[in-house]
Order: sequence, then structure tokens, then C-alpha cells
Amino acid sequence: MLTLFDSHAHLQFAQYDEDRQAVIARSRDWGVIGILNVGADLESSRAAVALAARYEFMFASVGVHPHDADKLSSDVLAELRALAADSGVVAIGEIGLDYYRDLAPRDAQRRAFERQLALAVDLGLPAIVHSRDAHRDALTILDEWPGTGVLHSYSAGPDALTEVLDMGFSIGISGPVTYPRADELRRVVECAPIDRLLVETDCPYLAPVPYRGRRNEPAYVRYVVEMIADVRGIPAEEVAEATAANARRLFGIR
Ligand code: NI
Repeated sequence: MLTLFDSHAHLQFAQYDEDRQAVIARSRDWGVIGILNVGADLESSRAAVALAARYEFMFASVGVHPHDADKLSSDVLAELRALAADSGVVAIGEIGLDYYRDLAPRDAQRRAFERQLALAVDLGLPAIVHSRDAHRDALTILDEWPGTGVLHSYSAGPDALTEVLDMGFSIGISGPVTYPRADELRRVVECAPIDRLLVETDCPYLAPVPYRGRRNEPAYVRYVVEMIADVRGIPAEEVAEATAANARRLFGIR
């Protein structure tokens, strides 16, 4: 059995309200030894912290997603800071820039990103960064930032890899690596040092083949691990162990 660490999940979302316990039990059955539930706004950050308090193998991050960047008031920032004091909180996120959907004005996105990065450094926590069609701006902001973290569901391609690695960042690999047309992403997986790779589901989104298009769940992180093993020509056990160790190291988990 593989030892899997899902470094980016959203089990607190409503998509699991009907069967959350069954999903969690299935993840245990499939070898998942750790799940990091990631906040996207204040409410889902609170819910992630509550889940982490209930299950010993679950952890939380708190933050406001770029889609909601214009809701990051000073009050919300203060609440995130208070939430982050909980022992289950191991990161700030997900934070970043999304110029693909552009649901918040870009200057508001950049400001919210920078304020939450400052919070992460202040608290000594890594950042979970969402960057979609905004890699130049995201990397420019991160370049001047002294902390570390992960580019989740990495989509910046092979060209940005050296810069990202030089910044000390890790690369989060999710379900799209299993899609037929993801050759660029598989090249990233092939070239990156294994000690910088994390695996994730981003569930309920981005289900890997053979569940593509359906609701995702932490157990399916196994298919991401198997594809990475395939691409690198090494055993899946080795990928599972390395990525679990990487997640624990980055997030300071014993
Ligand atoms: Ni996410």
C-alpha cells in the first residue's frame, strides 16, 4: 500500500456534506496518511481548521483566494491571523493571482496576495500559492518575498521551472498530469528534483483519469503518484514516500 499525502484538498466544501465521513474513510483505506485542507475564504478557512481539530491526520491552511481578493479587509486579515494560531494550521493559502477568470480586479488581487504573504512571513508559515494565467506577476511578487511555499496545481510550464526552484519553492502536481494532452506538465515532473514535488488532488476539482470530470477525493491522489512514477521510471512507493516526506518538511509536520 502507498503512503499518500494529499497536500491540497477542500474536504470542508459543501460537495462532501452528504458523505464526508465515507470519503475520509476511503482515503484511509487507500493509504492516505495526511490531508491538508486549504481555505479559500474566511468561512472555508474556519471549516478547514475545524476538520483538522477532529482528525489527527488532517491539517489546515487559512487564506483568501484571488477570486475573493476584494473581500480581504483589515478585519478579515486579523481574523485569519487569529485562526492561524490554531495548532492544526500549517500554511497560509490559498492565495495568489488568477487572471484566467478575473473574478476580482487585478490590482485588488495583487494587494491581497501581498498582504497575505506578509502575514505568512510574520507567522513563519509557508504559502500555498494559486497562479493561473498570471505567472509573470506572481513570480515577480514572490521573487521579492523572503518566505517559502508551494505553487499549487503547477501550470507555469517547463520554462518557469528553474526560476521557481531557485526561489526555493515546491511544485504541486495534481490530476491534470494524467490528462492525455499534459505533455508539458509531465516534462516538469520529469525535470524537477524529486525533493521539490508535492502531490495533491485540489478536490472536489481536477479529478485524475480514470475519474476525470467527476467529483475528486483524496484517495485519488494515488493516480497522480502513479503517473509521476511512470514518467520518472521509478516505483510508485518511492514517489509516495518522497512526496509525503516533502509535504511534512515544508509544512513542519512531525
Ligand atoms: Ni484549491
